Amino acid sequence: MSATVYVPRDSSALSLGADKVAGAIAAEAARRNIDLCLVRNGSRGMFWLEPMVEVETARGRVAYGPVAPADVPALFDSGFLDSDSSAGGDHRLGLGPTEEIAYLKRQERLTFARVGIVDPVSLEDYLAHGGYRGLARALSLPAEKIVEEITESGLRGRGGAGFPAGIKWRTTQQAAALRKYVVCNADEGDSGTFSDRMIMEGDPFVLIEGMTIAAVCAGATQGYIYLRSEYPHALRTLNEAIGAAYRRGYLGEKIAGSAHTFNLEVRVGAGAYICGEETAMLESLEGKRGMVRYKPPVPAIAGLFGQPTIVNNVVSLATVPVILERGGAFYKDYGMGRSRGTLPIQLAGNVRHPGLVEKAFGITLRDLVEDYGGGTFSGRPLRAVQVGGPLGAYFPTGMLDLPMDYEAFAAKKGIVGHGGIVVFDDTVDLARQARWAFEFCAIESCGKCTPCRIGSTRGAEVVDRILRILRTSRIARTEDREAAIGLLRDLCDTMTYGSLCALGGLTPLPVLSALRHFPEDFGLSRSDVAWAG
Ligand SMILES: Cc1cc2nc3c(=O)[nH]c(=O)nc-3n(C[C@H](O)[C@H](O)[C@H](O)COP(=O)(O)O)c2cc1C
Ligand code: SF4
Repeated sequence: MSATVYVPRDSSALSLGADKVAGAIAAEAARRNIDLCLVRNGSRGMFWLEPMVEVETARGRVAYGPVAPADVPALFDSGFLDSDSSAGGDHRLGLGPTEEIAYLKRQERLTFARVGIVDPVSLEDYLAHGGYRGLARALSLPAEKIVEEITESGLRGRGGAGFPAGIKWRTTQQAAALRKYVVCNADEGDSGTFSDRMIMEGDPFVLIEGMTIAAVCAGATQGYIYLRSEYPHALRTLNEAIGAAYRRGYLGEKIAGSAHTFNLEVRVGAGAYICGEETAMLESLEGKRGMVRYKPPVPAIAGLFGQPTIVNNVVSLATVPVILERGGAFYKDYGMGRSRGTLPIQLAGNVRHPGLVEKAFGITLRDLVEDYGGGTFSGRPLRAVQVGGPLGAYFPTGMLDLPMDYEAFAAKKGIVGHGGIVVFDDTVDLARQARWAFEFCAIESCGKCTPCRIGSTRGAEVVDRILRILRTSRIARTEDREAAIGLLRDLCDTMTYGSLCALGGLTPLPVLSALRHFPEDFGLSRSDVAWAG
């Protein structure tokens, strides 16, 4: 009997040498005349252990990591391929049974249930692990009932805005049109985020199935995945999976033996953050420059090529199959308040254990950063976390008991966004981070509206002015200082209330949170920034 070994093909593992490790394992097995089945799976989402190699044993998989090619002969010597042993080989890189690793064991993986477990491009493997059960149920229901399940589940958009998916789906389903579309937003531009990528590289069929259910519900016949250009491995994996789905009748005409037609293609963006904004993305998909559209009409009524279009994020769509399979009530049972279900949270930045943690809403920042994350990578004291990408707020350590919940974050002037958490130690300069927020906005602005196009550049200048006045002269002139702070305040108000989309509208969030929680970095006192909230 041949042993089965798993070496991830996920970008994080590849960047740490997974291909070389896979090559070394295959070569060593050949040298020792051992019959081996080498599977290139997705990542389990424990990046500090990558490349993490797993071996199938009598009692489940046993993990080793991080493995370097030079470790491979010793792993063979330790008997790591002994499939009868539940403990695996006795080797210093041995991590024991994968599912028992604390980081993984305490998670509640619904959307990520198969990521790291299946062979991402094997439809057989997907089916063997419960794949396409959601579609089978959807095909047995009237469209209104599918919408009801999504609405009942409480699923809100995981791309950032947290808009209820059921409302969007109902709008497109009820719109009368000859042609409708389903578009998956896979632009994933937020700093510190990678959950979309992990789905696309680790379980692409779950996304394809989710999009197919959306198409069946809305009566859409064409779908597009708008993928960021920085994800070449996801592109390859998606295209392989889409090809397999076509060959097996899960895409194309009469999908899964039904009367529905659904065609699906991947379109690659060109590296603009604003093309993650849904209307700019639709412009880009139509072959135009990625500029934000005025709303209304919303895409659910007039989206791609002016037709009704369901636009959802990768994680939102990849969550649809489990909701259809197990029912909206099952999914809704997880979470807190109006944040139902689970969120794949991404830990990044200066953190000891970076990776993917899928948990029900309600878990606190402290649990995530200190317990799962293990504190800072540098070992220095933690000072701040930024949640929700470049437009998200910076929170100090005193606020780590904040639960992951859309409303709780909004009440503290922050956003959950796409669930990315970037960790900073005590060397971070929050004034520089605030300046960077304006700079980022200036670089990525689509230029359509004045508050964002001009305001972002003026914002960086005002932060510079404040720092010049307050940091360089020991006795700052009161009127200069008040004028600069007043200007910043007006500018943030103008951007917040006058911008056409959330790029300009939310840029003041990181700036104001830095001022509010870390005024000393600007050379200011708490009373100087009382207006920041
Ligand atoms: C500047 C900007 C960038 C965005 N980038 C993304 C992105 O990369 N991926 C994404 O899914 N949504 C992004 N969004 C949110 C989308 O506009 C939209 O809300 C989302 O695709 C809808 O899907 P959902 O409801 O499933 O979240 C962005 C929004 C803004 C304003
Ligand atoms: S806020 Fe910025 S990105 Fe959004 S429409 Fe205005 S200029 Fe474009």
